[in-house]
Amino acid sequence: MCGIIGYAGSGNAGEIIYDGLLKLEYRGYDSAGIAVLDGGKCAIVKSAGRVKKLNTSAQLLGGSIGIGHTRWATHGKPDDVNAHPHVCGKIAVVHNGEIENYAELKKSLMDGGDKFLSQTDSEVIPHLINKFYCGDLLEAVIKCASMLKGSYALLAIREGSGEIVAAKNRSPVILGLGENCNFCASDEPALAGKCPRICVLEDGDFAVITKDSATVYNSKKQKINRAVLPNSAKEQSLSLGGYPHYMIKELWEAPAAVKNTVTAFGEVKNAVCSAICGADKIIFTGCGTAYHAALLGKRYFAELAGIPAEAEYAGELRYDKLYAGKNTCLIAVTQSGETADTVEAAILCKKSGATIAAVTNSPHSAITRTADITVPVCAGAEICVAATKSYSAQIAALLSAALALSQNTGLAEELSNAPALISQTLQNLDIYALAEMCARARGVYFMGRGIDYAVALEGSLKLKEVSYIAGGGYPSGELKHGPLALIDGSTLSIFIITDAALSQKSMEAVEQTLSRGGMVAVITTLPHVHKRFERRAEVVTLPECNKYIAPLAAASALQFLAYRVAVILNRDPDKPRNLAKSVTVE
Ligand code: F6R
Repeated sequence: MCGIIGYAGSGNAGEIIYDGLLKLEYRGYDSAGIAVLDGGKCAIVKSAGRVKKLNTSAQLLGGSIGIGHTRWATHGKPDDVNAHPHVCGKIAVVHNGEIENYAELKKSLMDGGDKFLSQTDSEVIPHLINKFYCGDLLEAVIKCASMLKGSYALLAIREGSGEIVAAKNRSPVILGLGENCNFCASDEPALAGKCPRICVLEDGDFAVITKDSATVYNSKKQKINRAVLPNSAKEQSLSLGGYPHYMIKELWEAPAAVKNTVTAFGEVKNAVCSAICGADKIIFTGCGTAYHAALLGKRYFAELAGIPAEAEYAGELRYDKLYAGKNTCLIAVTQSGETADTVEAAILCKKSGATIAAVTNSPHSAITRTADITVPVCAGAEICVAATKSYSAQIAALLSAALALSQNTGLAEELSNAPALISQTLQNLDIYALAEMCARARGVYFMGRGIDYAVALEGSLKLKEVSYIAGGGYPSGELKHGPLALIDGSTLSIFIITDAALSQKSMEAVEQTLSRGGMVAVITTLPHVHKRFERRAEVVTLPECNKYIAPLAAASALQFLAYRVAVILNRDPDKPRNLAKSVTVE
C-alpha cells in the first residue's frame, strides 16, 4: 500500500530510485514520483500512472540523494497533483499510510496562511515539517510526527541538506546499509542487489540517512540500536525469468513454496505445539486469501487434531470485544505480515491476554513483532498482487501444524508428496475450455461443501480479482436458499468436489443447477464424479488425493483458471485495477 524508497550515495539517485520503485510497484501503481537534491536544489518528477511513465524523466535527474513513491490512492484521486512527493517550501516528502487527523491539521495550517495543492492527507506532512524547521530536519520531523494521528512511513528531504529523515508508525520502513550509500524503503524487494545488510525500524523510530551513515533515533533524539540483518532479497527472484507475468511464474513456484514451508515447520513444531496445546480457544484470522487459508486452518484443527476452532475476518475481529481471552491462541495468517486489520486484530487479542501465532511469509514484518511465535511460510518474494504460491504455502503450514498436534503420520507423509502433486496438477491441467466459458459468462459462482467451500471462496476471489467478472462463492447446500435465482444460460457455476463423503450431496447441487439451464463445470479429484458429469458439464479432473491435501491441487487449478481468464480478457493479472498487495491502511 504505497511504496517508498530513499537513497543517499554517490550514484545517480534518479535512476536508483526509479529501479527501486519498479520493484515496489506491487504496493500501489496509480501514480509515482521522485524528488532528488541536485546542487542543493530539489528537482521533482511525478505523474499519474505506472512507474514506467517516469522512465525518461528519472534518467534526466541529477543528484545523488533523493526519495521516491509509488501510490495506492486513499485520499484524492490518482492524478499528477496528488502524486507524491509533496512539497512545502524547501521540504519534500513521500508518505505511506493514512493521516487520520489530516483535516484538522490542514484547517489550522490554512488558517495560518498555508496553501495546499492536493486533496491528499499526506500534504500536511511537508507543511508541518516546514513550519517546525529551525535548522534541524530530524527535530522538525519529530515535532511533525508528534502531531500526526494514524499510520505513516515517511521520508523527508530539504533543499541544501545532504540527508533523508525517516519516521515510522504502523507502516513499514527498513534501512538498507551499503558501501558508500544507504537506503530506506517500505520493503526488502526494493533493496535487492543494492546493499548487503538491512535494519528494520520499529514504531516510534526515526532515522537519519546520509551517504556515510544510517542512524536510528527515538522521539527524544537519542540514538538507539536496531539489529542489523543480512539482506535476503534476491534480484533474480524478482525477475520474470522468461514468464509473461508474475502470476504464472509464481503459480509454478508453489511446489517449492510448499516443500520449503513443510521443511521449515520442523524447526518450530515443538514450540507451536506447546503454544497451542495450552489454549482452550483457537481463533484463526486473516484478510482476503489469507482468511481463506484461515478457514482451512480451522477445519484442519477441528477435524484432524480434534481442537475446535473459529475463523474470523481480521477486519471484523479487531472490533469484536467478546472474542479473545487469556487462554486464547490467535493464529494470524498474513503473507505480507503488514496488513493493518490483521496486525491490529493481533494487537487487540494480545492486550486481552491471548497468545499470538503468526503464519507469515515476511519474517521481519509487523505481525512477527506482535506474535509470540512465528510459523514460517517460505514462499519467497511474491510480486503478483494476487496471492498464489503464498496461499498454497499457508495451507501447507496450517496443515503441518494440525498434523503435528494430531500425530497423524500417514497424512504427514502425503503432505511431503504434495509438491509433486501440485506439479502433476499443473502439468496435466486441461482448463482452457473452462477459461473460455468463464470469459463469456455474465457471472461465475463457485460452490463447495466443507473443505471445498473454503477453496470455492478462494477460487471466486482469484477470478474476480484478476478478471473483474462478477460472482461469488457459496456452500453448495445454500444454493437453493437464494443463489439459484442467479442461474440462467449466461451464468457459470463451478463446483469443487474432492470430499468423497460429501460428494453425493454436492452432485445433487450440480443436478439442481443443470436442470435450471445454467452453464456448469465440475473440478474434482473423484473418478465417480467425473464419470457422472463428463458428458453433461465441463469436467476438470485433478489427481486423486486425500481430501485434506486436495486444496493444494484445487488451489493451483483455480489460480491457473483465473490467470487464463485474465489473459483471454486482456487484463493485467499482476496489477489488478484498484488493488495493492500490502494493505497497510484500514
Ligand atoms: C488476494 C490477495 C489478498 C490478500 C489480503 C491479505 O489475492 O492477495 O486478498 O490475501 O490482502 O494480505 P496479507 O496476506 O498480506 O495479509
